[in-house]
Amino acid sequence: MAKAPYLDQDPATLTTAQLAEVIGFHDQAYWRDNAPQIPDQLYDELVERLRAEAPDHPVLRAIGGGRESDEGAEAVDQASLAAGDKVEHAVPMLSLAKCYAEAELQHWAREYDGALVASPKVDGAACSVRYDGGGAFLFAVTRGDGRRGESIGHNVTQIPNVPAQLPANLVHAYGVPVEVRGEVYLPLSGFDLVSELYANPRNVAAGALKAKEQGGVPASELRFFAYDVLGWDVPSETAKAALLTGMGFEPALTLHCDRDSAQAIYEQISAARTSYDYETDGVVYKIDDIATQQRMGFTAHHPRWAIAYKFQGDSGASTLLDVTWGLARTGTITPVALVTPVSLSGAMVSRATLHNVSNLERLDLKIGDRLLLTRRGGVIPHVEGNLGGGQVAIALPTTCPSCGKPTEVRDATRRVGGEEVVTRTLHCSEPASCPATLRSQLFHYTRLLDIDGFGDKILDQLLERNLVRDAAGLYELTAESLLQLDRMGKTLAEKLVANVAASREVSLPNFLVALGVETLGKHAAGLLASRWSLAELRTLTVADLASVHSLGPTTAEQIVAGLADQGPLIDRLLAHVTIAEPEVPTSEGVMVGQVVVFTGKLEHMNRRDAQQLVVRLGGAAGSSVTQETTLVVVGGDGLTTGKPSSKHKKAQRLIDAGHSLRLMSEEAFHAWVAAGAA
Ligand code: IVH
Repeated sequence: MAKAPYLDQDPATLTTAQLAEVIGFHDQAYWRDNAPQIPDQLYDELVERLRAEAPDHPVLRAIGGGRESDEGAEAVDQASLAAGDKVEHAVPMLSLAKCYAEAELQHWAREYDGALVASPKVDGAACSVRYDGGGAFLFAVTRGDGRRGESIGHNVTQIPNVPAQLPANLVHAYGVPVEVRGEVYLPLSGFDLVSELYANPRNVAAGALKAKEQGGVPASELRFFAYDVLGWDVPSETAKAALLTGMGFEPALTLHCDRDSAQAIYEQISAARTSYDYETDGVVYKIDDIATQQRMGFTAHHPRWAIAYKFQGDSGASTLLDVTWGLARTGTITPVALVTPVSLSGAMVSRATLHNVSNLERLDLKIGDRLLLTRRGGVIPHVEGNLGGGQVAIALPTTCPSCGKPTEVRDATRRVGGEEVVTRTLHCSEPASCPATLRSQLFHYTRLLDIDGFGDKILDQLLERNLVRDAAGLYELTAESLLQLDRMGKTLAEKLVANVAASREVSLPNFLVALGVETLGKHAAGLLASRWSLAELRTLTVADLASVHSLGPTTAEQIVAGLADQGPLIDRLLAHVTIAEPEVPTSEGVMVGQVVVFTGKLEHMNRRDAQQLVVRLGGAAGSSVTQETTLVVVGGDGLTTGKPSSKHKKAQRLIDAGHSLRLMSEEAFHAWVAAGAA
């Protein structure tokens, strides 16, 4: 990194030219390199000094702080915008001032004793989403350097909780374009499934947002946490959160406090963070009243009316004692670091996954190294870095730790954010007969199909006693056979059998994902199931699959090979399960103009898949019934019996008031879709 000029001189002694040079340097360090070298206050002081000496200096025009400019939106020729094109932010996307202790927080709040709001700081990628005056999605942009980001609309439209169209009542009430800002993140539950392949959820989210073709984690797995609205005025942050909800977004969790209760809120969020499905690295405080915010204004880098109070104490150093190797679902053998116990976020940690061979190599681990550990989302131990000092090299096991068969190293190439990333993983060469692999496959199958009660202990015993060899075997279990297991009673045995039986009818997408084929996740499964039946899928070639718009060639290859490998398992499963294959047309666009809301328990698809189907066919999927809604699909037999849901009731009220909205059963919906949604 270049050295800052005139660091050792008192700013008061600098000439105008020197001042401009220093400011230019620190401006680049901050915006371009993302590596500020001086505190914001000092930077502001330099800028103010230059402003006093030479108000028209070109450097002042070039640096950040152009908050008032509202070009941009109009300047963007959105029709010709391609993925990755640079887009200027209408208002720069600033960062937040940070603090790490209660005293610093109180110092920030010292002059304001009014209402504050606090939200978890989500660790993802900032994103701006733009809508036109009619409330239609226009484009979306990454934060980039804060002034210019990259166009990522092609991916943001795949995020289920980013609406494609804003509700008509709000659009009419405001009548002007609007921008929504927020943090895009990968839920931790989704990261669990790919944690062997990626270093952290933030990188996955950033990569998936920028990706120009499919291959990595699809954007449909991401979620958007909305925290700001620009263009539609509101009096307070509290009102903003309510407005965002009305717009169809999920606003940041907003808690109320004042400076006296601010620390207690920090502790509350810190304690609750392990239950959030996203990584949080602190608490963001804002002054609730927007008029006060406007009076306080901004430094060149951050608003004065907000601050991020970061969590700490959840990283610590520890020594690598050994690396053990465990087995994952697909027969991947994953390294786990065993370390000297260290206290992190209130718990003792003595092991942390190292994910894969590439990660092990990247960290260049040796036994005896000092490691820097954190807990992901405050929970999952993670090796952040290697401080070195170890001597003993780590050898990859040549035989599978579960079955003793030879291992093999495989390289998988993925495109993440336009870059090729090679991940090296170690595999059992005979997963079909490897007990640990079978166990994790069974675990995956039961988890995906919501078959409760089959934890590791039960699965281990089932495999040891040869009661089950694969997922199909689950359907042959009887209460009597289960009674052989340790600590198994009649009631539990019967419940397990009933839980399995409840999965005898499955949707095709769920069935495909449950097979545990690498890269055949929810996104790919939904795409495949909307085009082909299972029988057809089993005969498709790589070329057929690669014709699907968003599946890359590597994914296509892995899916074809994986389905062929799982052929025998599929045959055995089909003796026990029926696949509900809703007839779905292949023509896209049959739902253009429809705004569909699902309510009640769906029988044939889960709600996400159903919403994705609507979007794929050109419609919009809403999460609440509004005047915009054209169709409400009621799951189960909720249309004829039982208590109507609140969405159902609201739809009925709108119909009674003369709106042209339709209510339909799930069956009728699938039939209607199959008939071309006329
Ligand atoms: S308010 C001026 N609220 O943190 C920006 N930001 O360091 C005002 N972030 O890039 C942002 N969670 O994307 C706000 N609850 C939250 C947030 C949040 C995460 C991100 C934001 C920004 C970064 C600022």
